[in-house]
Amino acid sequence: ITNADLNVAHHLTVGGVDTLDLVQKYQTPLYVYDTGAIRQEIRAFKQVFEANDVAYQISYASKAFAAVAMYQVAAQAGIHCDVVSGGEMYTAKQAGFPMANLSFHGNNKSLAELTEALDYGVGCIIVDNFYELAQLTQLTTQREQLTKIMLRVAPGISAHTHEYISTGQEDSKFGFDLNSGQADEAVKQAQAAPYLELIGIHCHIGSQIFELNGFKMIVDKLVTLFARWQTELDFYPRIINVGGGFGVKYTSEDQPLLPTEFVDAIIKETIAQTKAKHVPMLEIWIEPGRSLVATAGMTLYTLGASKEIPGIRKYLAVDGGMGDNIRPALYEAKYEAVLAKDPTLPSEQVASIAGKYCESGDMLIWDQKLPATKPGDVLAVLDTGAYGYSMASNYNRNPRPAVVFCENGHSQLVVQRETYADLTRLDIPLATPEDVK
Ligand code: LLP
Repeated sequence: ITNADLNVAHHLTVGGVDTLDLVQKYQTPLYVYDTGAIRQEIRAFKQVFEANDVAYQISYASKAFAAVAMYQVAAQAGIHCDVVSGGEMYTAKQAGFPMANLSFHGNNKSLAELTEALDYGVGCIIVDNFYELAQLTQLTTQREQLTKIMLRVAPGISAHTHEYISTGQEDSKFGFDLNSGQADEAVKQAQAAPYLELIGIHCHIGSQIFELNGFKMIVDKLVTLFARWQTELDFYPRIINVGGGFGVKYTSEDQPLLPTEFVDAIIKETIAQTKAKHVPMLEIWIEPGRSLVATAGMTLYTLGASKEIPGIRKYLAVDGGMGDNIRPALYEAKYEAVLAKDPTLPSEQVASIAGKYCESGDMLIWDQKLPATKPGDVLAVLDTGAYGYSMASNYNRNPRPAVVFCENGHSQLVVQRETYADLTRLDIPLATPEDVK
């Protein structure tokens, strides 16, 4: 939070809009995005590529936050999007997103999904395994439809927050294994498929990565592989797709590199490795999800009940929780919250922010310093823009919150709040004895 995020009344603002006005207008819990901040993150990535004067593509990993309006923002910025299901693909289509700029991922795409992708004319299918490769070969041959693909390989490098682990043989459900010759075999099969055009190789080493080493290692490993493939298989990949995973700062303890620092290093490493290994310079694709949307989003809640256990802990409960943000319960993810009415007030208590769901694990934040609070105050949990709404559920039959985009002092509802009627919309009452007869 900087002074730029406060208005004259010291209320927290998003995209120039007072968060307390947003609560009046749209109620809580509420997901709020600073649309300009998303655009800025996209621009920052573009600038790094352009400063290095290399061919590139930014493909937003839409699993981080998928909604019609978000695909529209990506389309306006002229970037590509990744989808991982028929549902994301359909949403992008509904948004009018150019299908030629979609990449379709997944380790078990159904025949129906592959067929949809071909019907839509999706730009690139990222093939994960032999079963999919065979299905796609058959489908495209039947339809006589030329289709661009990349192969996803498991590079044997997996990155974790603050560290990377290099393993000789990666134990992962994703991608063709490199060490056992599977990737070579996949290249041969793709080359033999009459309607598949193999444009590049993809890998993804993890998410919320803080360090560069893993990325440098995959560039080294893949370019070495490409050098061998061009002599042994007469295969010259045009594109190196290094996936996403660029970490973001959720709390003051997090010290990731800037997403753009990652990309700058990846570009320089690719230039150096291709030169050294006599591989033609590659087009570089990245798939940022979290880093485009996480810090642009926050969730607004209203404080309600509280409980203080003397000498142990104070709980403040909000009107949402694990249904709108599963990440603390699922990954022990950390967040920070501020009081919307004035984030600069001095702290007077240490409190833990509990959700309203019927589980002890439904905690959003443990032991955070906060100013004095009272029921009805609005709490903003910051940086919830990635994997919050997209992983939301109706657990306990709580309707999912609305999503609002804010920019230049204006707010716009982009996903409606679910109603109770939405919750029972798909339910079918039990048949009566008469019906069964
Ligand atoms: N590309 C591929 C192939 C991926 O599997 C992913 C994320 C991304 C790109 C985007 O990664 P990002 O830039 O967002 O780190 N639900 C988890 C994150 C799961 C990420 C799965 N794959 C969370 O909330 O932290």
